[in-house]
Amino acid sequence: MTHAPMTADTRIALRGDLLDFTADPGFAAPAQAQGVRFRRDHWLLVEGGRIAGVQAGEPGPDWERIDHRGHLLMPGFIDTHVHSPQLDVIASYGTELLEWLDTYTFPAERRHADPVVAAAGAERFLDALLAHGTTAAVVFPTVHKASAEALFAGAERRGMRVIAGKVLMDRHAPDGLRDDVRQAERDCVDLIQRWHGHGRLAYALTVRFAPTSTSAQMRMAAALLAAHPGTYMQTHVAENRDEVRWVAELFPEARSYLDVYHRHGLLNERSVLAHGVWLDDTDRALLRETGAQVAHSPSSNLFLGSGLFDWPGTEGQGAHVSVASDVGGGTSLSMIRTLADAYKVQALRGVRLTAWKGLYGATRGAARALHLDHEIGSLDAGRHADVAVWDWSSTPLMQHRVDLAHDLHEKLFAWMTLGDERLLQAAYVAGVPRYRRAPGPG
Ligand code: GUN
Ligand code: ZN
Repeated sequence: MTHAPMTADTRIALRGDLLDFTADPGFAAPAQAQGVRFRRDHWLLVEGGRIAGVQAGEPGPDWERIDHRGHLLMPGFIDTHVHSPQLDVIASYGTELLEWLDTYTFPAERRHADPVVAAAGAERFLDALLAHGTTAAVVFPTVHKASAEALFAGAERRGMRVIAGKVLMDRHAPDGLRDDVRQAERDCVDLIQRWHGHGRLAYALTVRFAPTSTSAQMRMAAALLAAHPGTYMQTHVAENRDEVRWVAELFPEARSYLDVYHRHGLLNERSVLAHGVWLDDTDRALLRETGAQVAHSPSSNLFLGSGLFDWPGTEGQGAHVSVASDVGGGTSLSMIRTLADAYKVQALRGVRLTAWKGLYGATRGAARALHLDHEIGSLDAGRHADVAVWDWSSTPLMQHRVDLAHDLHEKLFAWMTLGDERLLQAAYVAGVPRYRRAPGPG
């Protein structure tokens, strides 16, 4: 898409039904939930790419008015764990985690050693995120420096809030996918200098998972994490039972899988740990103490048969939980579909996830866990205007069901359960329209 340049005094006003959250609704029943803010048919004022305010009345002539009346406007979704090269292996048949990595994922990621493949993959991935209403993400590219470069460059061109870093893997991975400590350190330092804090980008030290990094590599990552303020750490933890057993063999001195990362100095309030299905109470207490968060990936956990994450138990011990697609273990970039899966995972544990709690976890909750709630995740004044515009339904059946809803939660819950990216009409990033659905036939 081509756009008029956004300047500090560009003023636009978006009209629609505004939904965001002022606080965590928790696992309260729908009617008791706090923190839900719904403003039907209001105007969202955007000035210089940031939210300037919300009002019921029509703004004056010095605002460019964009009419999304009858549509749902929410903060853009935040996907806290997703793999850009894995669009190539999404929906691959028949395996659990470790076999899935060997059979599908590693061979696919190796192809991204070619900078042309890496660049095309990054572009495809970022455009796909926007077409799913996701405007911010914490992303794994591949072990190749060029794949991280391509991702940062593409995110910068789109103005997106992306946290990423080259994957670290110096053992138990095939040829063409391994680095070594010294080369990896040089690549990370170079990438940090080029991209960390540049525009809306941040660097994440990206230990793929404990089995594919030596202790020396994890210590190197921890040293960079400590040396570069504001950098993040992302990895996987306790996803699958065979994986957990393997980590116990590799690190017999550690109390648990999570403790491996703790011992290596990798846990802090900017650590994003995908999955956490097989954590215990001591691990969850360690999450609270360190401020690290779990990126809950329900679609992936169901698809790979990994297990059922204890969301309320994890938060009950004071740890942060956000929601993630984990494509390509997950089967959709849509955070709506991801939330529908999250509901089903909790249902199997005897817990009911409200639409409020789910949508909070994919917006303000994720922003808070990432310490970015001053910038994204809500429609508060001062936030970047990362906004998704949604239809209320995408099929006659969905329209029928939504029309029968007695209250807003029932309507949103049907929307979350039946919806997907086909509902998306437009996505704005810092006030710039970066995605608009093509008009249908006729
Ligand atoms: N553990 C290590 N690598 C991966 C990956 O790419 N996807 C998932 N789901 N788990 C992992
Ligand atoms: Zn993952």
